[in-house]
Amino acid sequence: SNRIMLGPLVAAIDQGTSSTRFLVFNAKTAELLSHHQVEIKQSFPKEGWVEEDPKEILQSVYECMDRTCEKLTQLNIDISNIKAIGVTNQRETTLVWDKETGEPLYNAIVWLDLRTQSTVERLINKTPGRNKNHLKHKTGLPISTYFSAVKLRWLMDNVEKVHEAVLSHRAMFGTVDSWLIWCLTGGKKGGVHCTDVTNASRTMLFNIHTMDWDPELCKYFDIPMEILPKVRSSSEIYGLMKSGPLTGVPISGCLGDQSAALVGQMCFKDGQAKNTYGTGCFLLKNVGTKPVVSDHGLLTTVAYKLGRDKPACYALEGSVAIAGAVVRWLKDNLGIIQTSTELEELAADVGTSYGCYFVPAFSGLYAPYWEPSARGIICGLTQFTNRSHLAFAALEAVCFQTREILDAMNQDSGIHLSQLQVDGGMTSNRLLMQLQADILCIPVVKPSMPETTALGAAMAAGAAEGVSVWSLNPEDLTEVTSEKFEPQINPEESELRYARWKKAVQRAMNWET
Ligand code: G3P
Repeated sequence: SNRIMLGPLVAAIDQGTSSTRFLVFNAKTAELLSHHQVEIKQSFPKEGWVEEDPKEILQSVYECMDRTCEKLTQLNIDISNIKAIGVTNQRETTLVWDKETGEPLYNAIVWLDLRTQSTVERLINKTPGRNKNHLKHKTGLPISTYFSAVKLRWLMDNVEKVHEAVLSHRAMFGTVDSWLIWCLTGGKKGGVHCTDVTNASRTMLFNIHTMDWDPELCKYFDIPMEILPKVRSSSEIYGLMKSGPLTGVPISGCLGDQSAALVGQMCFKDGQAKNTYGTGCFLLKNVGTKPVVSDHGLLTTVAYKLGRDKPACYALEGSVAIAGAVVRWLKDNLGIIQTSTELEELAADVGTSYGCYFVPAFSGLYAPYWEPSARGIICGLTQFTNRSHLAFAALEAVCFQTREILDAMNQDSGIHLSQLQVDGGMTSNRLLMQLQADILCIPVVKPSMPETTALGAAMAAGAAEGVSVWSLNPEDLTEVTSEKFEPQINPEESELRYARWKKAVQRAMNWET
């Protein structure tokens, strides 16, 4: 036949907060050959609650796989060339299922969810000196609604089915990676219950120094260790696909999405950093093989461990809860735009927020504040303000939040980043990229292939022992082309706007108290 010969291909499942994707890359050139994307429904059953349906998440993965394989076949590309699959995922989102029936016992509680706010406040009040960093020496994380342990605790306390399944030793806990890998490798018929070190490091049950579940932390949250997945490296064969067009293909890469983006951006050296604009926005800086603790509200997290015998690398992370989510909010909740391109057009029409500041603290504020009681505000309104100004303020909010994180990073290390590598859905918004450069006063560099998260997971999968079709040596990789946005406004104006933003943030804080 006239099949195209390409050599080995590697695929990635990218299960994010807002959508699921399946993508296939050429392992020699890193070229993206085909992909498919499906949006994921979010439900908000109560104020501050955010849930997703675990079965819909799984179905979306199968759908994306099927459709991508069909597209490849239409392109005359033989899908039997797909040698490995990597998984990358929204982190922290918490699931519990029954290992005998294979059924989820509740919806997935999404990382953004605030239902554990009172639990978190109670835990912090119990610590000596009301210190939210009480567990930081082991976990790298502050006590917050963000991480899995408190969500899991909530499920065990409030969902009868979960409670019973735990008592009868039928419960399995996992983040989205674990749920998918368990299902894809056979589910109740022999599925593999595992996670990787990067995802584990976001649960608050994992000790980032010993690189294992920590009995004391499990006791602190009263979580039985038998329900936890086995922790593996980010690049090894976990199991084989049990159904669908890729049956028999090894799943051999697993990384939380922010770690995957760091790998996909080739930030393998100490000091290299990237910022990903997804539902939230996450700036990670590789700090090498020794964990570095932040004094400025950043997290210490496991960046990756690319093989069983390879060292773990750590990262400092600045997490912003709401970035792309603000666009979805303007669309779904206010209805002032129909599409995200419309947002860019609206904002570009005016080119200024006209003194309007929008702090989208919908889920409290994450880094560097870690203030769960903050709530969103829009301020500086006049009769002149219109939806274009609001659109502009929404984009500016994403940039200001990134600036706060970058400042914290620079203060922590004493070294100033001279440019920022970016990726993620929102980077297609050129106005946003220019604004970001203006607000940071450094150039912003965007790779021409935007799917860096999936690329990182595919690289990890392709490099795994027993697969070995992809080299992780940056020198062997094809030159990545990129686009650079240089700052264009004067630094004084930039500082003035940033100072106003900080004032607005203060107003958003402690809203409920
Ligand atoms: O920590 C949450 C993060 O992993 C979610 O990423 O891309 O879905 O915003 P994203």
